[in-house]
Amino acid sequence: MMEWTDRHCRFFHRLLTRHALLYTEMITTGAVLRGNRARLLAFDPAEHPVAVQLGGSDPQALAESARICADLGYDEINLNVGCPSDRVQEGRFGACLMAEPRLVGECVAAMKAAVNVPVTVKCRIGIDEQDPEESLDTLTRTVVAAGVDALIVHARKAWLDGLSPRENRDIPPLDYDRVYRLKRAWPKLDISINGGIGSVEDAAKHLAHVDGVMMGRAAYQEPWRLLQVDPLICGAAAPFESGKAAIAAFIPYVERELAHGTRLHAMTRHVLGLFHGVPGARAFRRHIATHAVKPGAGAEVLREAIDLVIDARAELAHIAA
Ligand SMILES: Cc1cc2nc3c(=O)[nH]c(=O)nc-3n(C[C@H](O)[C@H](O)[C@H](O)COP(=O)(O)O)c2cc1C
Repeated sequence: MMEWTDRHCRFFHRLLTRHALLYTEMITTGAVLRGNRARLLAFDPAEHPVAVQLGGSDPQALAESARICADLGYDEINLNVGCPSDRVQEGRFGACLMAEPRLVGECVAAMKAAVNVPVTVKCRIGIDEQDPEESLDTLTRTVVAAGVDALIVHARKAWLDGLSPRENRDIPPLDYDRVYRLKRAWPKLDISINGGIGSVEDAAKHLAHVDGVMMGRAAYQEPWRLLQVDPLICGAAAPFESGKAAIAAFIPYVERELAHGTRLHAMTRHVLGLFHGVPGARAFRRHIATHAVKPGAGAEVLREAIDLVIDARAELAHIAA
């Protein structure tokens, strides 16, 4: 997610779930081919499994970008066919590609020929006046023929004319049944559902119908939910017994990054929603919001904020001991 899932965010999220697949922000082919690659594409080995999402519609540029990303070690290359912003439309990529399934097929085929890692597509069920029964089927048929490895479907249309990107994430109604029908029609295709899924419990329910669930805003704004992913979805223990224990493990990373010149706020802005219903959660947020933005702010700000949180589970363990 643009401006959200940067490498600091992903490193933090990886502390909360060992198994969920993490995605980069969308990166355009222009940026991959001509931009500051070291800055745009860098990731920490701890982030694996991590997918890079590309924005573009020129098959050769996408193939070359995919190859660069695969060489850097990304585990999956995802093509954005869902972003409705004006800037993206002007570049003739994102959601407007729902109207050009043949071109999307050419893009996927070119990327598949360039890399050995999975190539996936994230799309909408349709755009504007399209009939989602037809538009989603046509896109699926074309990308399957091109060899796509998985599809992630944001289960609502995008209205390219008249709605802002933010409105396009909320106003067009969700149609989960359309995605479930797609899975029934393509039982062998790996299909994930996205859109409005607010809890890991709800994600688990979707898994009765599809292969995977992508969580966007809920995962970012309420990262404590990610601690439930490994136990509730993957049958594995959570990496840490509490958010407090997880964020303590973030401190060495923060110190390392500070030493390389990263500003504290660039990292701590992602952790604000970590505590929920825990005494001290508000004080934690307020302390970071006030102090992490100050020039020269160091890791002690995060330590002080953590000390404001009462970790019920840790307290109980202490009493039991
Ligand atoms: C701030 C923000 C940035 C986003 N950036 C991207 C992006 O770069 N690529 C993408 O495919 N979707 C992007 N999205 C859309 C989300 O991936 C997701 O499809 C959408 O928010 C609906 O899922 P949710 O209800 O789980 O958030 C973004 C959403 C938000 C809120």
